[in-house]
Amino acid sequence: MFRCTRYQKRCLLLLATALLLATSTAFAQNTNAPHRLILNADTPGPTINRHIYGHFAEHLGRDIYGGFWVRGDDGGWQLNEPVIEALRQLNPPNVRWPGGCFADYYHWKDGIGPREERPTIVNALWGGVTEDNSFGTHEFMDLVEALGAEPIVVGNVGSGTVEEMADWWEYMNHPGQSPMADLRRENGRDEPWNVRFWGVGNESWGCGGNMTPEHYSDVYKRFATFLHNYGDTRAFRIATGPDATTNRDLPEWTEGVMRGAGHMIDGLDLHYYTVVGGWGGRTLATEFTEAEWIAAFDQARQVDGHIRRTAAIMDRYDPQNRVWLIVGEWGMWHLPEPGSEPGFLYQQNALRDALVASISFDIFHQHADRVRMANIAQTINVLQAMILTEREGAGFVLTPTYHVFEMYKVHQDADLLPITLDAGSYTHGETTIPALSASASTKDGNVHLSLTNMDPNQPRTVQATLRGDSFSSVSGRILTAEAITSHNTFERPNTVAPTTFNGARLNGEQLTITMPPKSIVVLTLE
Ligand code: AHR
Repeated sequence: MFRCTRYQKRCLLLLATALLLATSTAFAQNTNAPHRLILNADTPGPTINRHIYGHFAEHLGRDIYGGFWVRGDDGGWQLNEPVIEALRQLNPPNVRWPGGCFADYYHWKDGIGPREERPTIVNALWGGVTEDNSFGTHEFMDLVEALGAEPIVVGNVGSGTVEEMADWWEYMNHPGQSPMADLRRENGRDEPWNVRFWGVGNESWGCGGNMTPEHYSDVYKRFATFLHNYGDTRAFRIATGPDATTNRDLPEWTEGVMRGAGHMIDGLDLHYYTVVGGWGGRTLATEFTEAEWIAAFDQARQVDGHIRRTAAIMDRYDPQNRVWLIVGEWGMWHLPEPGSEPGFLYQQNALRDALVASISFDIFHQHADRVRMANIAQTINVLQAMILTEREGAGFVLTPTYHVFEMYKVHQDADLLPITLDAGSYTHGETTIPALSASASTKDGNVHLSLTNMDPNQPRTVQATLRGDSFSSVSGRILTAEAITSHNTFERPNTVAPTTFNGARLNGEQLTITMPPKSIVVLTLE
């Protein structure tokens, strides 16, 4: 469990405190007894890369059309300014585009030039709708600029050519005179965009071409070879990683791709969805039982094992830890809302989704030395979204998941602090999981501690010892709600929203935190 090589001091502290806590574990099975937590503020670990808080915008349902991209009063398309302003509050570090499965179906030249002259296509992947290509390369770059985010472009390997992808790369990045840079200038953009994050296909074991890892490795190398250096821009090449959701060929895929192409890979893109009940047994986001509440956390927590197993294979081929492990798609996948087009993957978002987000972030933080990017699927109106818009995209609500991203943004680019937590347990039926999840980080002299109580029935008290620094104040916010199924609607947009947390008491190096049932708390220690 502990890795003593890179952070010796932290490791020894953890071992000592783990021993101490082991003796109190039985004690904490009584849910009224305090959970012990030890936070070591003077032994920071790796930095939590801000790119872990990344986003994803696919040409799918109403994520782009009716989400980011809406019709203005004059009937023309434009960026959805109020929605973008709300997303800016999250400090979004990146946006992944144009897919997802759509990436291997997309021909980028359809989406440049005068909008009225762009061809239409059928989006056969997602609902069979007509795609008018009004949102293309320039519009995406305007979007990321408005968000203050970095672009992640996923190139078409499945149905595209090496030449097509190389042209797109040149179009976006060539600073001087070249056929593609000249075309870009004809379309109104003089300077290159200097896009560095570049996906070489998506889910190439499935919708991206149904390839074997060996075949994909060869194809990957061929495509990646032609992403030439232009000016100062070097491609950060992202390869398809394992399908962790179905677990079907997790080690074989990672092993085959790292062995075959690891030396040309900068990021490996693992996908993991929480699908409660499995594909055939899903329920609605807002209609579920306590059994499905606990099952969600039980399943979401399994991403930890997937990360460990994938990282262990990567360690063998990349002992210098150069290659980022990216969780390029993650989140809850429920049944689509009644009345919505099933291919649009439109689902509501309840308090349960928020807790899945907070515990997932805690896990990503713990693996900050290898996991350096993640993208929730997806940003607006699709799967576990931040924002749901009304049909025309004008009115919108912030989901409980949005609030987790906002509360947790304090961890972006902060240094991970080692904590030891007696998380106790929460049992329902046959399932037992830890009751608590937590993580801590430090940045600009402040320490932030986030805690999640997954137990929907009992408050939990955490007795924390703060070591390695002294603090004079604690403040915080809490996200909770009346019911496990509580969610925000257009009529009641603030049913689940953060409020000031008054349940923390600081006394010297002792911090006592009383967590209500089913809650997320983020504390600032100064
Ligand atoms: O996020 C929805 C879809 O899930 C993506 O297009 C695909 O990559 C994944 O299977």
